[in-house]
Amino acid sequence: KKTLKIASIPGDGIGKEVMPEGHRVLEKAASRFGFDLRFTDIEWASCDYYQKHGDMMPADWKAQLQTQDAIYFGAVGWPDTVPDHVSLWGSLLKFRREFDQYINLRPARLFEGVPCPLAGRKAGDIDFYIVRENTEGEYTNLGGIMYPGTEREIVIQESVFSRFGADRVLKYAFDLAQSRERKHLTVATKSNGIAISMPWWDSRADAVGQDYPQVKIDKQHIDILTARFVLQPQRFDVVVASNLFGDILSDLGPACTGTIGLAPSANLNPERKFPSLFEPVHGSAPDIYGKGIANPIAMIWSGALMLDFLGQKEAHDAILKAIEQVLKDGPRTGDLGGKATTVEMGKAIAELI
Ligand code: NAD
Ligand code: IPM
Ligand code: MN
Repeated sequence: KKTLKIASIPGDGIGKEVMPEGHRVLEKAASRFGFDLRFTDIEWASCDYYQKHGDMMPADWKAQLQTQDAIYFGAVGWPDTVPDHVSLWGSLLKFRREFDQYINLRPARLFEGVPCPLAGRKAGDIDFYIVRENTEGEYTNLGGIMYPGTEREIVIQESVFSRFGADRVLKYAFDLAQSRERKHLTVATKSNGIAISMPWWDSRADAVGQDYPQVKIDKQHIDILTARFVLQPQRFDVVVASNLFGDILSDLGPACTGTIGLAPSANLNPERKFPSLFEPVHGSAPDIYGKGIANPIAMIWSGALMLDFLGQKEAHDAILKAIEQVLKDGPRTGDLGGKATTVEMGKAIAELI
């Protein structure tokens, strides 16, 4: 029997509430499809751990995780106790960089039974992927503050784009678009205002696109692109974006499909040199933590993406079907207009597998 070794990191806030529902559903899928899951439960990479140890993770974190097949991750961040940039650069952003998880794949799909905030849209009208560059771009610690505390304070924060980094994420996005029926790739840009990196990003898209004559390239400035997510979501198939633009688009896309409470993500090292990481798009949601009302679907769907990446496609498909069924006529959490608890929803999904 095949055994998959999974590092399970709940993190903070509702990460701790949705993680058990992820386990519940994945365990059920494993028993149905005949493989074993060996979870290693990890309490570090959390703000609780930071308060005790003065650091987000132990020194040997990388060695501990490197032996795992994948990382199943809840959410990190508790700004009341640890500044967000400290907790996130000390955990999640380290994983993405040091494990070279350069693809952040984030689907947005409108399901049957989910109230859509956009008028006149029905299930199936919204169905696209955001491919977010995940290791460079606007996310850096390069820069500094000069003349701090004075009226002449100056802040500089550099962005870093490399040809290697841009080409590999563009190639992944073109491959994905090529594999889909519509073969349509939107390239998020801002080549009018961001006058160095963005015209360059466009030119890399054209260069990589040479190998994909069947894929239609649609370059859009990020400002109008966000407007079109709302006004014409059916226009999108695959959207490729830099780290920051992809971050913003991947909250907006799922919001257009009803709630960010169901949006999953796959932080991939496609070469499998390092473990990949699977997590909800959402964060630790301090405003609802402790009430047991968080939507567990983002966590559960992320788990399904993890199983798919680890070769268990049937298990992935069964989980997705169960999610679809529950969204159609099962219990629902508050963000979906219902009154169900996190646990009730997790159990309803598990029962359908
Ligand atoms: P958030 O995603 O935690 O919450 C935004 C809003 O969405 C809140 O009103 C919240 O209640 C709601 N929400 C989120 N997930 C939900 C779910 N599953 N079910 C129902 N409602 C849900 O974003 P934020 O408030 O900007 O950030 C809170 C903390 O989380 C910060 O520390 C932030 O840095 C961190 N964060 C972490 C990650 C991550 O670990 N990947 C992602 C985003 C934010
Ligand atoms: C996400 C989150 C992170 C990001 C934060 C918490 C650093 O918003 O995964 O989308 O910006 O990448
Ligand atoms: Mn985000």
